[in-house]
Amino acid sequence: METINERAGTLPARNMPVTSSNITWVEGKIAPEERVRLLRQEAATIWLTGLSGSGKSTLAFEIEKQLIMHGHVAYALDGDNMRHGLNRDLGFSPRDRTENIRRIAEVARLFNNAGVFVVTAFISPYRADRAAARDIIGADRFIETHLAAGMEICERRDPKGLYKKARAGEISDFTGVSAPYEAPENPSLAIDTGLLGVEESVTAILRAVRPRFRGI
Ligand code: ADX
Repeated sequence: METINERAGTLPARNMPVTSSNITWVEGKIAPEERVRLLRQEAATIWLTGLSGSGKSTLAFEIEKQLIMHGHVAYALDGDNMRHGLNRDLGFSPRDRTENIRRIAEVARLFNNAGVFVVTAFISPYRADRAAARDIIGADRFIETHLAAGMEICERRDPKGLYKKARAGEISDFTGVSAPYEAPENPSLAIDTGLLGVEESVTAILRAVRPRFRGI
């Protein structure tokens, strides 16, 4: 039977262990539909995944800009930026990447609960971590978008000079060089950012988001 909490959609519906005891979930007074009416959008998370240099940050901030310019509420969460703050204690071991993605999914979930579109720009190389993010955020509002530029192109671009450093052995566990990238098998969207430019890529992604606009 559906509970009030499930209907309001704010109670995390998952089986993760909670460390604290003596805690009780408290439900707010605002139903999700009221936020949809106020903000004129059904919030979702556009989850960009791809190799370093595949264009995640560029596209995330461009999508954020386009959404806001068209009267929507959106916020981009970027891997490098989050690692300066919330995730400053995390490195690039598989365990730390898992925790990185878990925290970001929780943040995205909160933004979505608040009615805000989220665009995430994280390599998020492990399938299991992206599946966990989908569970946390909710499958109905998780738009997995693979930026599928190949390794060769990303390495040739090397916008931050990191592939060069990784090849020289100056960075360990570097995705694509000394750490794996597990491409999505069945993403909502796959964009070959090796072929498409920024504008075309943004257009393709916004097309997938448009059905979530209300009354504008
Ligand atoms: S994730 O794998 O945990 O999702 P995230 O997207 O947060 O990674 O961070 C990736 C960014 O950190 C890269 O764009 C790059 O600038 C930087 N970086 C530094 N060291 C590494 C590394 N070993 N592997 C991948 N990216 C790294």
